[in-house]
Amino acid sequence: MNYPYQIQTFEAYKAQYQKSIENPQDFWRQIAEHFTWQRKWDTVLEWNFKEPKVEWFKGALVNITENCLDRHLDTKANEAAIIWEPNDPKEAHRIITYKELHFRVQQFANVLLNNGVKKGDRVCIYMGMVPELAIATLACARIGAIHSVIFGGFSAQAIADRIQDADARFVVTCDGACRGAKEIALKSVIDEALQSENNVKHVFVLERTKTPVKMQNNRDLWWADEIKKVEQMGNPVVPPVAMGAEDILFILYTSGSTGKPKGVVHTTAGYMVWANYTFVNVFQYQPGQIHFCTADIGWITGHSYIIYGPLSAGATTVMFEGIPTWPDAGRFWDIIHKYKVDIFYTAPTAIRSLMSFGLEPMDSKDLSSLKVLGTVGEPINEEAWHWYDEHIGNKNCPIVDTWWQTETGGAMISNLAGVTPSKPSYATLPLPGIQPCLIDENGKEIHGNGVSGNLCIKYPWPGIIRSTYNDHERCRQTYFSTYEHLYFTGDGCLRDADGMYRITGRVDDVLNVSGHRIGTAEVENAINMHPSVIESAVVGYPHEIKGQGIFAYIILDQEFDNQSSLIQEILKTVSTVIGPIAKPDQLLFVPGLPKTRSGKIMRRILRKIAEGDTNNLGDTSTLLDPSLVDILIEKKKLH
Ligand code: WTA
Repeated sequence: MNYPYQIQTFEAYKAQYQKSIENPQDFWRQIAEHFTWQRKWDTVLEWNFKEPKVEWFKGALVNITENCLDRHLDTKANEAAIIWEPNDPKEAHRIITYKELHFRVQQFANVLLNNGVKKGDRVCIYMGMVPELAIATLACARIGAIHSVIFGGFSAQAIADRIQDADARFVVTCDGACRGAKEIALKSVIDEALQSENNVKHVFVLERTKTPVKMQNNRDLWWADEIKKVEQMGNPVVPPVAMGAEDILFILYTSGSTGKPKGVVHTTAGYMVWANYTFVNVFQYQPGQIHFCTADIGWITGHSYIIYGPLSAGATTVMFEGIPTWPDAGRFWDIIHKYKVDIFYTAPTAIRSLMSFGLEPMDSKDLSSLKVLGTVGEPINEEAWHWYDEHIGNKNCPIVDTWWQTETGGAMISNLAGVTPSKPSYATLPLPGIQPCLIDENGKEIHGNGVSGNLCIKYPWPGIIRSTYNDHERCRQTYFSTYEHLYFTGDGCLRDADGMYRITGRVDDVLNVSGHRIGTAEVENAINMHPSVIESAVVGYPHEIKGQGIFAYIILDQEFDNQSSLIQEILKTVSTVIGPIAKPDQLLFVPGLPKTRSGKIMRRILRKIAEGDTNNLGDTSTLLDPSLVDILIEKKKLH
């Protein structure tokens, strides 16, 4: 497979970009011609951002797995689709060819069909990074069931909320997951989650760790037993079901500025085209190359750049089960060496964390196969960028800094590896089809270069969020109501003298901790569930490795002698309600919170105090009790 729409030169980029803005419909129609459709579209795009309504390739019938699997069988049947590297390097790796993946996806699709899963049913997938996670995801897409993958680090309560919100009918999980030296008992988390109200009919359980599990009669089914039944039926063919272009492909929950995570909805045709187009162009993938994205499939990066982007392009994608620092901090470098990885895509937080181990973990690892490096998830600081460039890329690999979001489906602002210019800590230029603009506090567009403002996007692209599941109004309010006729990203951004974009971080109450999006309101809700907590306020502060750390100000209902055990209890509460990723790094017990007379917490002040930057607190005269500020500063100093 070659990619006629792969941009080869900076001039071609400029020409394509121009064309995509002048005549977007024609532009995307031509790209869409390169996919396999069961029926072609009647219209390329119908849209308004008021409702919002965005419909790409309306009237078309398509199945994304036909594009990820079937269409490669003539030319790539025996090539590796997925290379799976286990947590423990002593365990055998697995190579799954396109032919085998095609077979296994249909086998599991049969399991789903045999157990009553229908088109449109929501299937929650809560598994470790095993190939069966990709197989289950694709099997859902094969039969038109809507997958909702939940990251393995979320707690029972967080899962229960998501299962309820999506009204999931089925769950796919593992007995346990391997994460470094730890085993996480996933099935027991699901059991706990399913004690809340739900409509789940079956839980499919893959054996991975042999962790003992309780199987509930009639509800719980072993993956292997169900596969056996399919084998006994003679492995019937499961044709790729005809999906309407705008039928939902998946829901993925993400955090926003309210306490409740929202189910971002992506649909079939537009997402497929966008995941593929961005994969092929940003990474400049060449047939035969090995692509290694270190994200978890529980996040959008895993959806788009482990599964759908690479597989739709007939690429070989590496799926890694473990963590970068176990058994030692050379794990990623081992994998690059072992499989001669060409493209390596990770998060700045991982780079910073690995930097702290020095250069020794790279000794005797051959990284010379690398051609392209990438980062995603948070702004990359220049120091990390240069370290990555020098020690991993040997100053020989372009680094793509890809800015995007769960809601955008794929990369939006990024250099194209080796084709368009790069600049440390800059996401650089928009992809074709993307019209970024910067907006000031009054909602006015800021024109020209050397300016900064709130980042918005003017026109739909194929991978844009379509809705928030079961609550379209929330989608409108969150993304399309702040500024008229614009999609609002929630990020601040500057445009330099050359028109290059640099993302400066969130402007809303969303934190970015180790590349994970976490809403401050969510963490506050969780902290407040501890019986001794009256009120709390959570802010981010700069953290050397995580990018942002979580700082919690907490008001207790009484004085406690043993604060350290109380701290442990509160952290445990947050782990139970959300998951360990949301645990605050610092907790400060305070007598009150700085509020305006109307009762609004002045987070700006809390952020400054958390950062230790107290010389310039700005105007505090509007506070209900300005003297509180000095008390907090004093407490922070003693902390
Ligand atoms: C941030 C991850 C700077 C940003 C794909 C965005 C980035 C949020 C970058 C989305 C980048 C992502 N440079 N910031 N290259 N990439 N972000 O939904 O704040 O998990 O809004 O999607 O991460 O996080 P999400």
